[in-house]
Order: sequence, then C-alpha cells, then structure tokens
Amino acid sequence: MVSRYVAGETIADAVRAAHELRKAGLLVTLDYLGEDTTDATRAVGVAGEYISLLEKLAADGLTADGAVEVSVKPTAVGLLLGDPEQGERTAREHIGQIAAKAASLGTTVTVDAEDHRTTDASQRIARELRAQYPQVGTVLQAALRRTEADARALAAAGTRVRLCKGAYNEPVSEAFTDRHDIDKSYARCLRALMDGPGYPMIATHDPRLIAITAALGLSRPAGSFEFQMLYGIRPDEQARLAATGAHVRVYVPYGGDWYGYLVRRLAERPASLGLLARSLLPRVSR
Ligand code: FDA
Repeated sequence: MVSRYVAGETIADAVRAAHELRKAGLLVTLDYLGEDTTDATRAVGVAGEYISLLEKLAADGLTADGAVEVSVKPTAVGLLLGDPEQGERTAREHIGQIAAKAASLGTTVTVDAEDHRTTDASQRIARELRAQYPQVGTVLQAALRRTEADARALAAAGTRVRLCKGAYNEPVSEAFTDRHDIDKSYARCLRALMDGPGYPMIATHDPRLIAITAALGLSRPAGSFEFQMLYGIRPDEQARLAATGAHVRVYVPYGGDWYGYLVRRLAERPASLGLLARSLLPRVSR
C-alpha cells in the first residue's frame, strides 16, 4: 500500500523515482515526508535533508531548468515552534536556506499549504522569499473560502501558484465542505489563475477540472502552465497529458514518516481502504 504512494525512505529512493519519471518525460517535485515538527533539532534536520537531496539531484543532472524541484511543508521546518512569530521566523529561515540552495542549482522550492491556521504565515513566507528567489511557489486550496480572493491577488506576472482542492479537514466557517462547492470554487480559482500572466500549476486528478484546464490552456502560450498529480495516482493520465506536449509534474513523497500522508490519500479514495484491509490480513485468509 505504502509503496504505491511513497517512493521509498531514502534520498537514493527519491532520486531513483525522479530519474524514472524524467525518463518518461515528466517533471517532478520531491517532498520529504514529515509535518507538525515540535522539536527544533528535527526542524534543522529536515532542512538539512532537503539540502542534501538537492545536492544529490544536481550531481545527477536533475535540477537543470527546474525539471526536479522540491516541496516543503512549513510545519516540517519549524512553523509551530515557540510562539507564532518565532515559528514563522524559523520556518522562513529554513525554507530560505532550501530556496537559496535550489536557486544555486537551477531549480526551486514550492511552499506546501497545510491547514487554514497556517495559511497566512505560509503565504507570507512564500511572498517574502519570492522577492529574493522569484521562482518560489505558493499553494492555494480551493476548499478555503478565502482562496478565490487569494487566487486573484496572486494571478500576477512572475508568480508560480499551485492550485489544489485541499487535503485537510477544515471547519465550515473557513472552508466549503460539500464536494460540489469545492469543485465550483476550484473552477473559479482556476479561471482566475489561467486568465492571469503568472505560471499556474494545476494540481488535481479530477477529469472534469483537467478538461477545463486543457481548454483554458489553448488560449495561453505553450509551456505557460503545468498539470500536477501525485505519485502513484492516475499514472496513465499523467502519461497521456505529457504525450499531448503539456508540462506534467509529479509530486513524489519519500521518507519514513509516511503515515499522515497515506491516511489523507486513503481518506480521499475510500475504495483503497478495502485494499488496505486486504493487505493487513494474513496471506492465508485472503
Ligand atoms: P478528488 O479527490 O475529488 O478526485 C477526483 C477524481 O480523481 C476521482 O473521482 C478519481 O477519478 C480521481 N482520483 C482521485 N484519487 C484517485 C486515486 N487514488 N486513484 C485513482 N483515481 C483517483 N493538498 C493540500 O492541502 N496542500 C498541498 O500543498 C497539496 N499539494 C498537492 C500537490 C499535488 C501535485 C497534488 C496533485 C495534490 C496536492 N494536494 C495538496 C492534495 C489535494 O488537495 C487533494 O487532496 C488531492 O489532490 C485530491 O483531490 P483531487 O483534485 O485529485 O480530487
């Protein structure tokens, strides 16, 4: 179950997955799994892991032109450490170090979105880092009520914005909770980003939203946006889109701390729970 969605535990596993995807004509963003760090040493260690990863990717020729980039969760590098100001400073410093290393190697970092309590700080960190490293990416979650306004504000020249539905359980005061409302919000944000001069990164496996993106993309310059999907989900669709000449980037998680990530993926796909149950049963009773 785990290996379907997670590339492995080590940098070597991540680099191997990146090589395979690049050979298939896909772009890659790598995520070192782990979140909600409440330990300063661990936060320093996560930042160090990203630096080592970037060095290995560059040594293998994978970082040129941003073909393989990295995605970082602010809470993994210290956002929740100490008081809110201290936490934000720590996360910004660590993501800044990762962005500096990435830029020096021809690639960049995208700041992942977590639950709504982290949205303001995460967007501020990405905005401040963009001033120095213009390729730094931001992530918006269509489920949040605020996001349409955020999308309009970020649909500006030079921005790289990933749009996803949002993977966190949010209160109804902050978020749409009905699937159709989330999809409608996604379509509005999608249009705002695709109408703007930035570089939209459209992260979804949803066939209808992919079709709308492809249609809106017809009136944009070639290569001015990309599709993004998760490792192990709809690989045939990833290949099909890439074969049309579209930019397609695969989000590849790796590392030992895969539990939270896997649970979010399973919750989105209840059919997978049957697979999980079967994989836990002794072989003889399958
Ligand atoms: P949804 O889950 O509604 O699925 C729509 C359709 O896609 C399904 O009906 C099915 O056809 C197909 N599908 C979905 N899952 C499938 C599966 N396992 N196997 C086969 N088909 C499947 N979230 C977040 O909060 N912060 C973040 O930073 C990110 N980052 C991110 C990066 C990238 C590249 C992606 C693709 C996604 C994220 N997400 C995320 C996760 C995102 O918010 C969302 O939880 C998942 O992508 C699932 O939403 P979909 O848009 O795929 O739609």
